[in-house]
Amino acid sequence: MKYSNPNIFLLVILFLVNGIHIVNGQNSKNDASIILKAEDFQKNINGKNVNLYFLKNGNMSMAITNYGARIVSLCVPDRYGQMADVVVGFKSIDDYLKATGVYHGAIIGRVAGRIKNGKINVNDSTYSLQLNAGNSHLHGGSSGFHNQVWNVKSNNDTSLALEYLSKDDEMGYPGNVNVEVAYTLNSKNELTIEYKATTDKGTPLNLTNHAFFNLAGEGSGSINNHLLTINANYICPIDEAKIAIAKNYKVKSTPLDFRKEKAIGKDLIFEDVNQQLKLAGGYDHHYVLKRNKKNKIMLAATVVEPSSGRKMEVLTQEPCIHFFSANFFKGTDIGKMGKPINYRESFALETQRYPYSSDSKLFPSIILNPTDKYETKTIFRFSIEE
Ligand code: BGC
Repeated sequence: MKYSNPNIFLLVILFLVNGIHIVNGQNSKNDASIILKAEDFQKNINGKNVNLYFLKNGNMSMAITNYGARIVSLCVPDRYGQMADVVVGFKSIDDYLKATGVYHGAIIGRVAGRIKNGKINVNDSTYSLQLNAGNSHLHGGSSGFHNQVWNVKSNNDTSLALEYLSKDDEMGYPGNVNVEVAYTLNSKNELTIEYKATTDKGTPLNLTNHAFFNLAGEGSGSINNHLLTINANYICPIDEAKIAIAKNYKVKSTPLDFRKEKAIGKDLIFEDVNQQLKLAGGYDHHYVLKRNKKNKIMLAATVVEPSSGRKMEVLTQEPCIHFFSANFFKGTDIGKMGKPINYRESFALETQRYPYSSDSKLFPSIILNPTDKYETKTIFRFSIEE
């Protein structure tokens, strides 16, 4: 065969090599930019430009879109140096727009989780929020932060800072809120997410990132063998509408106990017996972190995937971590690796504040007032367990 242009020949070879190595999101020299193309994310939505941004440092690389400030891809090595994309996402902005799963990798706001009847009380006034999950308000409503196009504040090879102005009355919430979220990769295989916000009127605010992980790689099957540890003695139990009703349910001697490393699937066999697992359809609970000091960064959770050796530690300044075992996916959406996004093939560990309740005695307040500054940090640290 004769090639007139040696560059084309090289490109063909590169394509073949990369094509052969991509199996379940695994690629020997994988990088978010091999899996995804920025062009597939360039679109104008409501007058704002959407794009895809690549970060790289040490052995890690990732892709983020400013549509919902979402993590689209996060590539880390296994014990043999094989890379896999461990965050579930889609290959184009059009796939995000048509997906049934709307929170993948996104920043959730104004308030992560459910608010009963969508009713909030702030400084003696009552507000009604949009009801987007039965009689509840979930994850900031249908036009929450996950569905907004964020502005790029700054960007370099290892960091991306995004900002969004949430206007007074958006989804029913009071006040204009300025939010900033910065993603940074360092050379120690850590992804840091920094959240900042201010408001001109009292409003509840509880931000998180809703990445779904599978440490064997997106689309590689059940998460039941992932080994999870959560540094918490208590969860917030839920009612039939999945609304948190207290903060003092002891995990000791229950299937919700992850104080010692345990396979995620081990106690799911008690799903029909344990009332909390039954109400949630699996794990879908706030874990109250065992803290010594308020706001100090602490190790909240550790996950190890035994076959690859990939380990993820979640460190946070937040008081709680919400563990969700992806109980609602039905395989209807197809992820960027070409595999259906299935029931319990990924998990979310969302660091956040206590849930909101209009009964102010139930949980510490999540109201941000104009004199307050919202500033908090969460780190996802990746390493290998031999
Ligand atoms: C919530 C679930 C919800 C899911 C949507 C989780 O954070 O706790 O109840 O259905 O997000 O992805």
